[in-house]
Amino acid sequence: MDLEAKKIALRKIPHGVHIVGVKNGADVNAFTATWLTQVSFTPPLVALGIKKDSHSFEMIKGGGVFSVNLLGKEHKPLAEHFVKPATVVGEKLATVPHRFGKTGAPLLEEAIAYVECEVREIANERGDHAIVIGEVVEAGVRVKEAPALTLLDTGWHYGG
Ligand SMILES: Cc1cc2nc3c(=O)[nH]c(=O)nc-3n(C[C@H](O)[C@H](O)[C@H](O)COP(=O)(O)O)c2cc1C
Repeated sequence: MDLEAKKIALRKIPHGVHIVGVKNGADVNAFTATWLTQVSFTPPLVALGIKKDSHSFEMIKGGGVFSVNLLGKEHKPLAEHFVKPATVVGEKLATVPHRFGKTGAPLLEEAIAYVECEVREIANERGDHAIVIGEVVEAGVRVKEAPALTLLDTGWHYGG
């Protein structure tokens, strides 16, 4: 395989940029995620690709819930903030206004919309990212007309 072609082709897959919130007991965290898509209408399911060595993956396995915070075009700095790994759990959220949703997962006040999910399946033994399938159990919209931030808007890459 032409590895350069593989990288370029995979990077052409369009992605949104989201902040995924997680909660396990009293611990909360959030991170920037692009590998997320809807995978069923009924029930409403989303699939999230999550790094197996991240703090959030351990928390998602333990807590069984996550939130997806949809960002507006102006929210690149927010996405940048949540890219760094948590050194102390809850630290990244300490400076960002948020509340806790029905599932207990953190919801960012600035998000243009959100969904909350309960974990139904975790798969992908082979990969360095696991696939977490979550059922959407709650949703909210703050700015109906705002288009969502995409990876292309940011000039970043996550893929290849
Ligand atoms: C543009 C971009 C997109 C990312 N998308 C994902 C993703 O979809 N899934 C994932 O697990 N990590 C993704 N990451 C990496 C996480 O944001 C990063 O590993 C983070 O430090 C994890 O935080 P935590 O260790 O506090 O859970 C992405 C990073 C960047 C820069």
